Amino acid sequence: MIVDKCNVLEDCRIINFPKVTDFRGNLSFIEENKHVPFEIKRVYYLYDVPSGATRGGHAHKKLQQLVIALSGSFDVILDDGYNKRKFFLNRPHYGLYIPCKVWRELENFSSNSVALALVSEFYEESDYIREYGDFKKMVENGWR
Ligand code: TYD
Repeated sequence: MIVDKCNVLEDCRIINFPKVTDFRGNLSFIEENKHVPFEIKRVYYLYDVPSGATRGGHAHKKLQQLVIALSGSFDVILDDGYNKRKFFLNRPHYGLYIPCKVWRELENFSSNSVALALVSEFYEESDYIREYGDFKKMVENGWR
């Protein structure tokens, strides 16, 4: 499953991972290009997020990612420049796929939450759009 065209809010979706249940505890796993529709070039995680803090607040030109609530819970608000969708993540056996060209905000982190991100690109600041006004202009210009 490879997705290289990406932009719309409709492409944002919850992806369920395999879950191996066991009396010793559960186990989930994620394989690139199978459970995640891209090659994983980078992994990062948010932790020790203070109550009331908001993360994200940007869009990406090219980068796709999958966000998982490894522990605790938080909301992800996605915005394609016209419409918004809100997702509540609170279990480690599913994740939210976010294609490129989508503005995202992560908020309402519970205490001790950990947000894991699997990412399609190495870190590159030039891939970020950090001003909402710039994002709106790019949406209105069809990302040209
Ligand atoms: P940023 O992506 O703005 O965080 P978030 O969207 O989760 O709120 O990144 C915050 C800072 O960390 C910024 O200075 C860039 C740096 N950073 C890296 O150096 N490497 C990375 O992989 C990431 C995600 C961020």
